Amino acid sequence: MSIQVKMPNCLRSCDPASRPCPPPLFPRMMQNTVKKVEGAEGSAISMVLQNKNILLGVSGGIAAYKAAELVRLLVKAGATVRAVMTKNAQEFMTPLTLQSLSGNPVSTDTFDLTQESEIGHIRLADTADLVLIAPATANILAKIAHGIADDLLSTLLLVTRAPVIIAPAMNVHMYAHPATQENLKTLQRFGHHIIEPAEGELACGYEGKGRLAEPEQIVECVEATLTKKDLQGEHVIVTAGPNCEPIDPVRFITNRSTGKMGFALARIAHQRGAEVTLVSGPTALVAPFGVRLCSVRTALEMQQAVLAHYPRATIVVSAAAIADYRPAQTATQKIKKKDGDFSIPLARNPDILAGLGQDKGSRLLVGFATETEDVLHNAERKLHSKNLDMIVANDVTQEGAGFAGDTNIVTLLDRTGQQEPLPLMSKDAVAHAVYDRLLALKISP
Ligand code: CTP
Repeated sequence: MSIQVKMPNCLRSCDPASRPCPPPLFPRMMQNTVKKVEGAEGSAISMVLQNKNILLGVSGGIAAYKAAELVRLLVKAGATVRAVMTKNAQEFMTPLTLQSLSGNPVSTDTFDLTQESEIGHIRLADTADLVLIAPATANILAKIAHGIADDLLSTLLLVTRAPVIIAPAMNVHMYAHPATQENLKTLQRFGHHIIEPAEGELACGYEGKGRLAEPEQIVECVEATLTKKDLQGEHVIVTAGPNCEPIDPVRFITNRSTGKMGFALARIAHQRGAEVTLVSGPTALVAPFGVRLCSVRTALEMQQAVLAHYPRATIVVSAAAIADYRPAQTATQKIKKKDGDFSIPLARNPDILAGLGQDKGSRLLVGFATETEDVLHNAERKLHSKNLDMIVANDVTQEGAGFAGDTNIVTLLDRTGQQEPLPLMSKDAVAHAVYDRLLALKISP
């Protein structure tokens, strides 16, 4: 029986040249280098937000309660958060909640003498590395778009020179109203970045677009804005996750990959300014913000999706745990058990990365060597046999490395013979290290 190659979603729904990504980042972007610091457990984590001053403006909508989670995530990522609440926002949540979570006083009034003497609205705006308005109501959007400064938050927005991110949340009809849409266009013209609200069930009982984007996505956007854009102009293909090779309609062969490393590589490439196509096997992960996701199941589908985008790619990072074999035949009906043992003949899948290596041109190719023994030797062999520029050697037997976790321990080996062992670090930090080394390779081939 022949194997049916299902067309991956991305090939059915999007042309490889199109890019369903958010608008470009701010022209007056604050740039910073990504540092790796030793954390409490000796783990190095990506610190884009470390010591950054984030001014969080909370306006009065039901989604104001989500500001608490936002503050928690920003503080966890190392940022100093100063919250400003409008009068209406305080109807939904008390300043004390955000004060407790941020560890900083919450500003509520332009003319409060205590607050003025302690902070001063000019200083508050001047010291911010980034201003985030979440949730942003139709009212605050209208005020910012028209330069109205009748309370502390709207005044700050006229004063600040920092990048501004706005995450609207409101009733579906308010969002769709031409006045709101015109105001959003004006704000984009100002260079402000809008995080579109999500669709779904709204607090007002309506269904539709108007729900505040998820706090994790908002934080990703904040990180992206404050990350240097040294991958701008690159088109990065990342493969991630496992393959599922069907045996019959109810069974398949797979592996333990969760896709976390590949998703981190895609997210960080996007944050550093690249156009990113993420070709992923089945995972439980949410697609990173601004990344084109092609969902596939089998190795053959993965190969087809990668090849479709390959002509435009400048970098390929193959982090997927690609199945080397598939059942030679997929049964159309569930296979019934019989007496005695049973074996499944397997057919070889193509080596996708090795194939790309034979038609490399000026692209940079990165592989992952998932090993349980003889790690560096095996990785080096794969680096050369697949014609790669770099391979990330991953000893999955070490604690804190490999599948499922948020950390990894890897050694980077490149085509010049350099080996860089990295300590236990977050998968985001590993992704940064991979791109740092790739860029260094580009400059001094
Ligand atoms: N890879 C690939 N196609 C395959 C198998 C692997 O493109 N059929 C890629 C992986 O995504 C990874 C690199 O090749 O970047 C090395 O994969 P790995 O599983 O470590 O090694 P294999 O080449 O499959 O060799 P072995 O299974 O013998 O270790």
